Amino acid sequence: MKVKVDADLCVGCGLCVNVCPEVFEMNDDKAVVIAETVPAAQEDACKQAKDECPVEAIGIE
Ligand code: F3S
Repeated sequence: MKVKVDADLCVGCGLCVNVCPEVFEMNDDKAVVIAETVPAAQEDACKQAKDECPVEAIGIE
């Protein structure tokens, strides 16, 4: 599973970093992905972050 954050959409709410700090990190006021290929143990948390991001900036494939 791969994940990315659309920096044009992200409003820096920080939810993804709280839900899944192994994969997302704040860089200034935007989230960045620090583990593009999501470790199996983090997949559920990563999906939760995607579902809960208020601006749907997180993409999973
Ligand atoms: Fe940005 Fe959404 Fe995360 S707004 S900080 S990608 S939860």
